[in-house]
Amino acid sequence: MGYQIPRGTQDILPGTVEKWQYVENKAREICSRYNYKEIRTPIFEHTELFLRSVGDTTDIVQKEMYTFTDRGDRSLTLRPEGTASTVRSYVENKLFGLPQQPTKLYYIGPMFRYERPQAGRYRQFVQFGIEAMGSDDPSIDAEVMALAMDVYKELGLKQLRLVLNTLGDKESRKAHRDALVAHFEPRIGEFCHDCQNRLQTNPLRILDCKKDRDHELMKTAPSIHDYLNDESRNYFETVKSTLTDMGIDFVIDPTLVRGLDYYNHTAFEIMSDAEGFGAITTLSGGGRYNGLAEEIGGPATPGIGFAMSLERLLLALDAEGVTLPIEDELDCYLVAMGEAAKEKAPSLLYQFRKAGLKADKDYMDKKIKAQFKAADRTNAKFVAVLGEDELANGVISVKEMETGNQTEVKLEEVTQYILNQI
Ligand code: HAM
Repeated sequence: MGYQIPRGTQDILPGTVEKWQYVENKAREICSRYNYKEIRTPIFEHTELFLRSVGDTTDIVQKEMYTFTDRGDRSLTLRPEGTASTVRSYVENKLFGLPQQPTKLYYIGPMFRYERPQAGRYRQFVQFGIEAMGSDDPSIDAEVMALAMDVYKELGLKQLRLVLNTLGDKESRKAHRDALVAHFEPRIGEFCHDCQNRLQTNPLRILDCKKDRDHELMKTAPSIHDYLNDESRNYFETVKSTLTDMGIDFVIDPTLVRGLDYYNHTAFEIMSDAEGFGAITTLSGGGRYNGLAEEIGGPATPGIGFAMSLERLLLALDAEGVTLPIEDELDCYLVAMGEAAKEKAPSLLYQFRKAGLKADKDYMDKKIKAQFKAADRTNAKFVAVLGEDELANGVISVKEMETGNQTEVKLEEVTQYILNQI
């Protein structure tokens, strides 16, 4: 064997790719219903963008980025997520100046993180995400969560849990941060090296530490909910009551902090409770990032969004045993017998395709029996059989595979005949 695929990446082959196309189409359809428009940004950006937005103390920036220097000596990074690029583009293209606000965008594309690969965790994965910028109306927070849940529900998932928290505004976060430092500082020596660093740089992230998760100080750590100012509390209350009015179930988890720095107010994750989904139960995550546009040189702009990976979505569908209604069949397979018929076949097949039929024929010089077998394998609805005699008489025989009914049709009418039947 010569070359192997890089660790943590996947080839998506025919037979599986149809599932990807199906879920992508579903995501696009739901975005169009919610009036989100697609944005496509580059796969790499200036490294600095991610340092400023995702945050230079986060795991993503410190351990997971694919960063390289190009031939012009610029530091570039394969995007680890989509929010930074989307907000960069929003600022750079002055989308805030367009008459229709908020700016509601979605993306579907590959992201790259140098993580330890395992089920549901890849080094290249595809995120579907949305970003709504320009509004701090709590009902748009609810809209973002509703859209995310709709994608899962409409694909047939049932064992879902929407977990919600608030991180408060700047002022509330500052008060909470100080309380966290005071709480952990006296005994920080008992925590892992990462947490010791986090104490000053990003104490909130201590709460998210996998190694120290069972330390007794974790359970008694001050909750952001005790440090919310009135504005933050009211905001959160409205988000919750809007979700309730919409009939969307959620649970509150005051320890949900998210792994990226740009969040404030609403933060949420959608989990799968399906048995067999694996150790990682998070399907998607998102939240509000007021101030991010400003941070990267734009005007003060509220924003909220979420992202899910299609890999985890497909794993969840498998775990719940959901079969997607994928149609992958040909309308017609053309079987040709004899030299003259084989010569006629390409133009006839071309005629089928121009008329909009999904059609194919043999290219491997197969015997008749093998051609029928090939037709079977394509799940063709009809098999059109062209033999020497038929050709001489200007007819072709058309067999409907489901019923076995066979009809002789004039050659010049066969395309219309099949079109009428399907
Ligand atoms: P995140 O929580 O880092 O947030 O990632 C969002 C989702 O991407 C995860 O819930 C998961 O579905 C998927 N994901 C992340 N890493 C991997 C991986 N290595 N393999 C497979 N799937 C993965 C963000 O990326 C934010 N930009 C979300 C957001 C948008 N917040 C506001 N707007």
